[in-house]
Amino acid sequence: MPKFPRFILGVSVAASVLLVLPSIAQAQKTKKPAASTTKTLDQRLDELIAQMTLEEKIGQLNQYTGDAATGPAVTDNNKLSQIQKGQVGSMLNVKGAARTRALQAEALKSRLKIPLLFGLDVIHGYQTTFPIPLGEAASWDLAAIRQSAHIAAREAAAAGQHWTFAPMVDIARDPRWGRVMEGAGEDPYLGSQIAKARVLGFQGEQLGGTDAVMACAKHFAAYGAAIAGRDYNAVDMSERALWEVYLPPFKAAADAGAATFMNSFNELNGIPATGNSYLQRDILKGQWNFQGFVVSDWGSIGEMIAHGYAKDNKEAALEAITAGSDMDMESRSYGPNLPALVREGKVPEALINDAVRRILRKKFELGLFDDPYRFSNEKREKQVLADPQSRAIARDVARKSIVLLKNDNNVLPLSKQAKTVAVIGPLGQSKTQHLGFWNVSTDSTQVVSLYEGLQNKLGKTAKLLYAKGCGITGDSQAGFADAVKTAQQADVVVMAVGEARDMSGEAKSRAEIYLPGQQEELIKAIVQTGKPVVVLIMAGRPLIFNWTADHAPAILYTWWLGSEAGNAMADVLVGDYNPAGKLPMSFPRSLGQIPIFYAAKSTGRPSANDKDTNYRSAYLDMPNSPRYAFGYGLSYTTFDYSGLTLSTKQLKKADKLTVSFTLTNKGKYAGEEVAQLYLRDVVGSVTRPVKELKDFQKVMLKPGESKTITFTLDQDKLAFYNPSMKWTTEPGEFRLMIGSAASDIRLEDKFELVD
Ligand code: NOJ
Repeated sequence: MPKFPRFILGVSVAASVLLVLPSIAQAQKTKKPAASTTKTLDQRLDELIAQMTLEEKIGQLNQYTGDAATGPAVTDNNKLSQIQKGQVGSMLNVKGAARTRALQAEALKSRLKIPLLFGLDVIHGYQTTFPIPLGEAASWDLAAIRQSAHIAAREAAAAGQHWTFAPMVDIARDPRWGRVMEGAGEDPYLGSQIAKARVLGFQGEQLGGTDAVMACAKHFAAYGAAIAGRDYNAVDMSERALWEVYLPPFKAAADAGAATFMNSFNELNGIPATGNSYLQRDILKGQWNFQGFVVSDWGSIGEMIAHGYAKDNKEAALEAITAGSDMDMESRSYGPNLPALVREGKVPEALINDAVRRILRKKFELGLFDDPYRFSNEKREKQVLADPQSRAIARDVARKSIVLLKNDNNVLPLSKQAKTVAVIGPLGQSKTQHLGFWNVSTDSTQVVSLYEGLQNKLGKTAKLLYAKGCGITGDSQAGFADAVKTAQQADVVVMAVGEARDMSGEAKSRAEIYLPGQQEELIKAIVQTGKPVVVLIMAGRPLIFNWTADHAPAILYTWWLGSEAGNAMADVLVGDYNPAGKLPMSFPRSLGQIPIFYAAKSTGRPSANDKDTNYRSAYLDMPNSPRYAFGYGLSYTTFDYSGLTLSTKQLKKADKLTVSFTLTNKGKYAGEEVAQLYLRDVVGSVTRPVKELKDFQKVMLKPGESKTITFTLDQDKLAFYNPSMKWTTEPGEFRLMIGSAASDIRLEDKFELVD
């Protein structure tokens, strides 16, 4: 997990990548470059680039790390002088208004006074930490997701940042891959909607607003399909899978105006993404007409040597710039090699001009040439980071992210009669773990633990007990006896189990994704007391917990929920908030089922049900179905679907199909349902998945209330890539399914697309 050293008086004291700066007072005296208001942006760019030497242009393509390493660290004691000479265009991992201001002053000592761009991994919050992105995706609440990204941007922009390396829009279908925590799950449609919401949230009304930062859609492309879920592994993928599954969220991010893209560590069908012209030039900058710039991933240009694609850094630089990687994050390949490559005629200067223009354009759009310090305002930083409203929103997003997996005999919400509540498990009093892998700036003491959340909620009416039981990992059951004794004294037990925050994330792939250590054994011991037990699972990925799924009466999947974790969980536990989250990834029963996803193909011998194995596409020892399907999640109430109506059964190609039905809340609690629309194109010139999510709506209903829900399907929703990879529709039958989960279809009909 990224580790930031403590900052003392604006100077970092504990990093190998340490940068020693002049005092802040000194920095503030530095003169700003003159602002110009009358010229167009292109004129300003032309003028500036015309003044730049080749070395100065290449300097803009270099990005160095500052006070922390979020990749293999490079030792460089000479960074400051390179910044002063204009040999660095951007810094990552420099935090805070004062610190960025001081460093900016150094860049302004350069001949052309070109300001630095500051970038940081603000993945799910800057100071106010929101749920991990996979958790937020479980809210299926696009407005909430957009708002959370916007608050993250507002805080980051007040603390000197211009740019976040988010959203990660990689589709992921293998929960062994640690980075599933950072994306929106397995589905291209949901993933695209969320990609758009996050880009719009980060970038606000307009780039240049002091409440907005540049977004960065990453990792381009197909990083989520690493073989066997092992991070950084090769990707071998059909053109069809690339276009149908992995590219759509990137396209959505580009269409939403993402200012930047980051390429990826993986090779794609033999060519590293960083050196891949097809991805970066043909698709992104060509077909999609992307006008922003592409940053490499940390060291990924140099890593083309280890991939076996370049013989040395010079060749790696040649491959990367040719393929369209504009900025070199920390591989130190561009600075030392591009000047010679241009002089030798191997790299046309036009390529350098294009890259530098893309980067400078963003600096202009951010307003940095008019005021290089406009994001480094300590007063605003203080105010924005102290805004209590952000915590309130974080709590709301956190409770929206929780998924109710099981609730036998309505154990939940907790009965108001419960006078003694036992919190048991290694995550019961934890604060730090809720911050997830990418905590940027949250002091863990500010995080609300589950125990504290329950204390806040029940402190006056019930007695809270606590026993840890065991560690998150490790073999010891020494705490079991105490945990059992504690459970026996309680009316109800709330168990807090899961992963530590450094078990899912970058380079955190796991071959075994069971509940780690002795935790499932602890659950067994507690369930055997006969007390009502609610299990809360806190993790960065889908885990396997079959015994718990079979025997625990109630299960909530809470991911890592961020600053307000405990309050959000308490809201759900006592029923002040009715859970409405739905899984954005299938949860396997067994490692052997991975990769597992709902939008699978039928095969020629589909298994009619989980038991049909006779010459069928099935496992002898395991059902095909997941433990919990994509889109699944319960509520304290129940919803009834009825009255499906299609505007036509014979849809003409030029027309739209209107689909409506009635959704009714049949239970006692007000609640939200995410109604999901799936399609199957029954026969095609290319086989289509058995189900594809095409739309959804999240609807709030009071007890007994009904609403008519309407979806409109245009031709785009019926289209696919034909055998010539042309995006088109074909006449024929479609199955339309409306449901509460991919595994829980409530209404079904057919229609025909006609010429
Ligand atoms: C490597 C990660 O893959 C990327 O997502 C991140 O933005 C960079 N490191 C910078 O920390």
